[in-house]
Amino acid sequence: MTETSAPLVAMRGITKRFGGVTALEAVDLDLHAGEVLAIVGDNGAGKSTLIKILTGVLRPTAGSMLLEGQELTMNSHSDAIEHGIDAVYQTLALADHLTPAANMFLGSELTKKLLGLEILDNKRMRSEAERTLRERLGVTLRSMDVPTDSLSGGQRQAIAIARAVYHSDLKVLVMDEPTAALGPRETSRTLKLIETVRDQGLGVIVISHSLDDVFAISDRIQIMRRGRRAGVVKTTESDIASVLGMMVGAASDQAA
Ligand SMILES: Nc1ncnc2c1ncn2[C@@H]1O[C@H](COP(=O)(O)OP(=O)(O)OP(=O)(O)O)[C@@H](O)[C@H]1O
Ligand SMILES: [Mg+2]
Repeated sequence: MTETSAPLVAMRGITKRFGGVTALEAVDLDLHAGEVLAIVGDNGAGKSTLIKILTGVLRPTAGSMLLEGQELTMNSHSDAIEHGIDAVYQTLALADHLTPAANMFLGSELTKKLLGLEILDNKRMRSEAERTLRERLGVTLRSMDVPTDSLSGGQRQAIAIARAVYHSDLKVLVMDEPTAALGPRETSRTLKLIETVRDQGLGVIVISHSLDDVFAISDRIQIMRRGRRAGVVKTTESDIASVLGMMVGAASDQAA
């Protein structure tokens, strides 16, 4: 189904150089609405650099990007958010001592007028946070009035995703190593969250070193090797051994 529709995101010929280091060389990427695309590859293969370009954090040295068929140029991460592209990182930027609602609205607090003064509307932020977690992600916290560092890794992940889905008309969600710091139960909850968001029609990109997670969650897998796209496979038509083979490349290539 997704193969026939135009891609939500198309990255074309993306090259990124850091001084003398070529992190990416003419990389393409297609992402469709309602799919999870996993990006895999060894350390230094260029995965994070590629998604930093997609999320406006880095500018490509060369190449172009299309969002829903329109040329996409971005100068900052906030440009990406404005276009409906956001990311949730492994090192979740959450303020540990603040409540889930305060974290969700950090830097974009809801306010109300009281006696001519603009004050924080804590009650509404709390109810909006609670509603977003429940309706968009199917997550109910035991209490909304606890510091975020008392929550589990999976719950923290949910808050970070809720923040992304609440604040923009989100079309593309990127997750760099979402399960790296999580135990097995939290990992399966996070994979469930990813499915929930995908089923709402978003395009989701997941970078992961866990091929088990990748095969559990993704619709397609893009394999990166030494800054190039080594292949793209449909998850149901591939297996861990062949993806690993593409990640490390041929023996001659390794010896060179
Ligand atoms: N800011 C930078 N300055 C110089 N080189 C960089 C910079 N960022 C990344 N690189 C280089 O670009 C290459 C790709 O790095 P990148 O972080 O994209 O890899 P990765 O696939 O995400 O790896 P990992 O699995 O370890 O996270 C590496 O050789 C890295 O050293
Ligand atoms: Mg990385």
